[in-house]
Amino acid sequence: MKTRETWGTRAGFILAAAGSAIGLGNIWRFPGEAYEFGGGAFLLPYLFAILTAGIPLLLLEYTIGRKYRLGPPSAFRSIYRPAEGIGWWQNAIAFFLATFYAVIIAWALSYVFFSPSLAWGDDAGAFFGVEYLRAGEPLDFFEYRPAMLGALAAVWAVVLLIMAGGVRKGLELANRICIPLLLVLFGVVVVRALTLEGAAEGLNAFFTPQWDKIGDYEIWLAAYAQVFFSLSIGMGTMIAYSSYLKKHSELSTTAVTVGFANSSFELLAGIGVFSVLGFMSGEADVPIDQLVGTGGGVAFVTFPTILSQMPGGAFIGVLFFATLVVAGITSLISMVIVPFSSFEDRFGWSRKKSVLVLGLPMAAFSLLIYPTANGSSMVDAVDFAVSGYGLVLGGLATIVLAFATGKIKALAAEANRTSMLKLGNVWYTCLALTAVVLVYTLYKSIQGQIAD
Ligand code: PFF
Repeated sequence: MKTRETWGTRAGFILAAAGSAIGLGNIWRFPGEAYEFGGGAFLLPYLFAILTAGIPLLLLEYTIGRKYRLGPPSAFRSIYRPAEGIGWWQNAIAFFLATFYAVIIAWALSYVFFSPSLAWGDDAGAFFGVEYLRAGEPLDFFEYRPAMLGALAAVWAVVLLIMAGGVRKGLELANRICIPLLLVLFGVVVVRALTLEGAAEGLNAFFTPQWDKIGDYEIWLAAYAQVFFSLSIGMGTMIAYSSYLKKHSELSTTAVTVGFANSSFELLAGIGVFSVLGFMSGEADVPIDQLVGTGGGVAFVTFPTILSQMPGGAFIGVLFFATLVVAGITSLISMVIVPFSSFEDRFGWSRKKSVLVLGLPMAAFSLLIYPTANGSSMVDAVDFAVSGYGLVLGGLATIVLAFATGKIKALAAEANRTSMLKLGNVWYTCLALTAVVLVYTLYKSIQGQIAD
C-alpha cells in the first residue's frame, strides 16, 4: 500500500488549519453579521460558541482525522458503517460552498485591478450591478465585465495547481507563502482604517450592545453559524486536513491556537471595517446602519465608494482586495480537499484523477452557474443555506454519532495519547451542550420559517 503523505512540520499543519479558518468569513461575513445581530451583544453568544462549540468540535474533527487517516466518508464509515452518509452530505456542502466562494474571491481579484484607477467612479453600486438588481432586471456581471470571468478562471487555475501539488508541495507551501503575506497586507489596512477621522464613531456602533436582542434564538443561531463557518467546522474539512497528520502530532494546543488566531483576526477585521464605515458616515452624513449590510454590499459597494473619497484610497483598495484574495484562497483549498480526500480514500483515486474528474467540473460549474443572470442572488441563497444549516447539521451529526456509538471515550483516549490538555468531562459536556443548543435553535428557526 502507498504510504499516506503527511504534513512536513507541526507549523505547517497549524498554518494550514489557520489558513482554512481565516477567510472571507472573517472579513466579508463577520462584521455585517455582528452588526445585524445585536452589535456588542452578538459578541457574547459568539465567544460562548467559540469556547463551548468551536474549539471542542475542532478537537473532535482533528481526532477523527488523525485516528482513521481517511477522508470524511471513509472515516465516518470506520466509526459506524451507515454513517458514511454524513461524509457525503459534507461533500455536497463542500461542493456548493467552494463553487460560490470562488466567485467572491474572483470579484475581489477583479477589484484588485480596478482599484488603482478607482474604476467604479462615483457610483460603485451601479458598477457592481446593484442598480440592475434594484430595477428587478436580470444581472449579468460578465456581460459587462469579461474581466471577472477571467478572474474566476484564474482563481480555479491557482487552486487546482495547489491541489495537484499534494500536501507538502501544494497545501503546506501555499499556506507558508500566503499567511505571512496576509498578515502584512491586513495589518496595513487595519492601521490605516483606525487612523481615519470618524473611526471612533464606527467602533461605537460596532461595540454598542443591543441587549434587548440577546434572548432571540436568531442571534444564537447566527453566532453558532458564524463560528462554524469561520472555524471551518461541520464540513469535514478538518477531518480531511488532520487525516494527513502524523500519528504523534499534538492536537489540543493546535486547536486553541487556531481558535484564538481566527477570532483575533475576525475581531480586528470588524474593527477595521467599522472604522472605515465611521469615516464614511461622517463624510456622507449618513447613519452607519444604512451603510452596513452583509456580504457583497459592504465589500463591493460601500467600500469602493469610501475608497474613492479616502486619501490614498487607490493604494488601500489594492491591499484590501488582495487581502480578501489571499485569505480566500487558503480557505478555498481546504474546501476542495473534502471531495478530493473523500474520493481518493474511498475509491482509491489518484490525485491526478481527482483534479480532472472533481476539480475541473467544480471549476466549470462555478464558471457556468454564477456568472448567469441569477448568479449574485444565488450567492446569497447558497451562503444562507450552507452556513445557516449545512455546516451546523454536519457538526451536529458528528457529535451525535460520537456519543450514540459510544466512541466518544475512545476518541478522547486517542487525543489524550498526545494532547497536553486532557480531554474528559469538560469536553463531553461542551459537545453535549452544543448538540442541545443546535437542536433547539434549528427547531425554532425551522418553526419560524414555516410560520413566515
Ligand atoms: N473558514 C472559512 C472562512 O471563514 O472564510 C470558510 C470555510 C472554509 C468554511 C472551510 C467551511 C470550511 F469547511
